[in-house]
Amino acid sequence: MRNESPTPSYAQDEDDFLYSVRAGLRQHPKAIPPKYFYDAHGSHLFDLICTTPEYYPTRTETAILERHGAEMAEMAGDSCTLIELGSGSATKTPLILRHLSDDAVYIPIDICASHLHNSTQRLQTMFRAMKMQPLCADYHQLADHAIKRQAGKRQVVFFPGSTIGNCTPDEAVTLLKNVAKLVGPSGGLLIGVDVKKSSAVLNAAYNDAAGHTAAFNLNLLTRMQRELDIKLDATQFAHHAYYNETHGRIEMHLVSQCRQAIRLGKESFEFEPGETIHTENSYKYSADEFEQLARSAGWHLQATWHDEDGLFNVHYLNQSAAEPLKLAR
Ligand code: AVI
Repeated sequence: MRNESPTPSYAQDEDDFLYSVRAGLRQHPKAIPPKYFYDAHGSHLFDLICTTPEYYPTRTETAILERHGAEMAEMAGDSCTLIELGSGSATKTPLILRHLSDDAVYIPIDICASHLHNSTQRLQTMFRAMKMQPLCADYHQLADHAIKRQAGKRQVVFFPGSTIGNCTPDEAVTLLKNVAKLVGPSGGLLIGVDVKKSSAVLNAAYNDAAGHTAAFNLNLLTRMQRELDIKLDATQFAHHAYYNETHGRIEMHLVSQCRQAIRLGKESFEFEPGETIHTENSYKYSADEFEQLARSAGWHLQATWHDEDGLFNVHYLNQSAAEPLKLAR
């Protein structure tokens, strides 16, 4: 891969995981942040989720990018620096890269080193001339100067998959403000956002019949056992995901099947039967709700593309209110 100046790694370390798990288990209700799903096995399970018939976001967003990728690339500027947050296996990225010119630069950022390496290698064989600079990092903790700005190049963050939905609205505003600082005043943001819809469709998407979402959720416990030497019986927890209409979010939990205690070092954490560890929120936003949220972080909506059934939106935003273009297709 063409990685001329190897970029530093800011990957999460063991202490970070240990600290978050300990703090999360001390909390009432207990909670662990969703970023810890993504070890190598968790990332693989997430890829499987994306192929299930129930999990509509991936195929819907892919179809939108296939159809409108050229317009999106035109808005971004075809020789931009495209920075992908949480690039994972980067399956949707070619749908934008193929419309950029060879002097564009691609910077994938992901917490999982193996995923980052493999996907960048795959993309580099597809786009041989394009400069690619992978960065192994937690994008929630990126410093403003983590990416060197190149004179004359617009920096555009690509954040597909509705991963913004895994932040609380307050966290989302903070993240979008940080993205604004990262790309600078002339920068842009191309972001996929899942839309509110019927509970039946949403509940099915997070409870697939093949059990990949359940395995993904439960893998967090296996990871805690392996990496933190926590003493627990993973078979005594069950996956639970449901749409919380009041908050407009899917909630995922690990539910204790009995009264039990798990041990971390010298500390013991008690569970009542039915008590949960809250492992993920996945907020859903209408276009208007997302526009409001983004505006409070300094972003202005320029265009929205969606599928025929209105399941999913892809938005392009910039930081100047000067020429609001607001296409809706
Ligand atoms: C990565 N993120 C947008 C997914 C979502 O839909 O919130 C993670 C996921 N959790 C369960 N299924 C998928």
